[in-house]
Amino acid sequence: MPFHAAEAPKPLLELRDLRISFSSVDAPSVLAVEHLSLSVYPNEFVALVGPSGCGKTTVLNAMAGLICPDAGEVLFCGQPIQGVNPRVGYISQADTLLPWRTVLDNVALGLTLRGWSKAERRERARDLLDSMGLSGFETNYPHELSGGMKKRVTIARTLAIEPEILFMDEPFGPLDAFTKQKLQDDILELWERLGQTIVYVTHDLQEAISLSDRVLLLGGRPGRIRSEYEIPLRRPRRVMDLKFDEAFLTLEKAIWSDLHEELSQEEAPS
Ligand SMILES: Nc1ncnc2c1ncn2[C@@H]1O[C@H](COP(=O)(O)OP(=O)(O)OP(=O)(O)O)[C@@H](O)[C@H]1O
Ligand SMILES: [Mg+2]
Repeated sequence: MPFHAAEAPKPLLELRDLRISFSSVDAPSVLAVEHLSLSVYPNEFVALVGPSGCGKTTVLNAMAGLICPDAGEVLFCGQPIQGVNPRVGYISQADTLLPWRTVLDNVALGLTLRGWSKAERRERARDLLDSMGLSGFETNYPHELSGGMKKRVTIARTLAIEPEILFMDEPFGPLDAFTKQKLQDDILELWERLGQTIVYVTHDLQEAISLSDRVLLLGGRPGRIRSEYEIPLRRPRRVMDLKFDEAFLTLEKAIWSDLHEELSQEEAPS
């Protein structure tokens, strides 16, 4: 069948030739990102991987409209974004719950800011907590939960506002391997059920391959897209089933050697 350009899927989010620098009065300015372009399509799960300091969080912040690039464009549904984009959900590296609010009220928080009534907020928050396996913990406070449970509450809080795209920045970094794997499976299940679009930042290559449709490897200082890998592993996926899958291991090896090359270039004397 002939291919018509009109049938090509349109990106939900697009970064075009971004340049982002940081300046301060008492330090030289840092060029964090340069000539960076990428597109994210509806319902895609995209992982951003790369060495520490290569600009992953900076790119995510630009996608969310939290920082304004020096040059280039950030488009959401084809339109340039103006300021913070209210249609995105963002789980940051250091995301925390409000310690003085109960689990239920933490999840309902974003809905308060959107003008929902108390009864509506609580009903929605209860449903989300139920879907995250946290029924029965509504009246607990964050300090009474495990690290993994706190993460689940953070995810429920972010999903409460029904974001059109979800950004996650190293969401499970400090957790133990078993809790992390359970949460990764929860995210896969959520993504499959809700048809979310997710951009997921991680240092963990196995995590990136297990979860995503596409892995973008960032490199260099300033940051840019070094390479892009399609992940054709079948869905639905469960993280444990993939660990010894031959196609998974082949992909991991290829991306590792690419990453290793990037790290060697970083270390080489200039
Ligand atoms: N607010 C800021 N002010 C000054 N420099 C910044 C600021 N935010 C980031 N940078 C610099 O921009 C570069 C990219 O930082 P960024 O936090 O995006 O990296 P990253 O890839 O997320 O790293 P990590 O994996 O360690 O989280 C770094 O050199 C960092 O020092
Ligand atoms: Mg970061």
